[in-house]
Amino acid sequence: MPTKNDYIAVFDSGVGGISVLRHLRRELPNERFLYFGDSANAPYGTRPTDEIRDLTIAAAEKLMARGIKALVLACNTATAAAIKDLRLRHPDTIIIGIEPALKMATDRFPGGTIGVMATPATLREGKFARLVERCADHCTVVKLPAAGLVELVESGKANSPESAALLRPLLAPHAGKLDAIVLGCTHYPFAAETISALVGQGCAILDGGPGTAHHTRRRLENAGLLRDGEGEIIIENSANCHDIVDFCFELLNF
Ligand code: DGL
Repeated sequence: MPTKNDYIAVFDSGVGGISVLRHLRRELPNERFLYFGDSANAPYGTRPTDEIRDLTIAAAEKLMARGIKALVLACNTATAAAIKDLRLRHPDTIIIGIEPALKMATDRFPGGTIGVMATPATLREGKFARLVERCADHCTVVKLPAAGLVELVESGKANSPESAALLRPLLAPHAGKLDAIVLGCTHYPFAAETISALVGQGCAILDGGPGTAHHTRRRLENAGLLRDGEGEIIIENSANCHDIVDFCFELLNF
């Protein structure tokens, strides 16, 4: 069990944060990552905000107690519900969150029509309303809450007849009408193939993983905390079965 304080902890409600870990590993190949997915309690995105906050804080504080140098909340839902409180409780810890990559989309398609697919919780939070106010004033933002997709990704059915059937009523009405679709839940990049087939090839698909990895590198660099030597990845999950850890390693190389 790692206790040295040179690990970067990466947290998600389940396997979705692996889509962020892929970028973190590329951006920071010498770092040691300790990934924790709370699949036993997933999905978070259909829970009330106070439950999401409590689950996130409990998991984050367990990771912090093991001595980490930074925490990445690789979960849009957990970030929206809990990052403010976590930073207040732990002002000396580097805590990085992820949010829907709306700025990237609006910079690329000024005045365009941008869909944001995320969990119902992320889309209802004030943090998302402020993000839209801040960076999308000349764009049309279409909210696309995709309840049910997290469960399919967790069970290895990200691109399947089931995921296509779930997403068709949500996405087909927008086919050919969106300039970009922002994947505002870290589980969704694994379903990008199905999403792209439903919204049409002309629609750019963007997610916050690369930006979050880049930001993490900058924060560690500024704090003088970058590491030399061989990188390492440890994956743990509250579902506490080997299969899910193996599945996460598969997704890491997806
Ligand atoms: N992966 C999480 C996110 O980025 C959500 C998953 C969930 O609903 O548990 O929002």
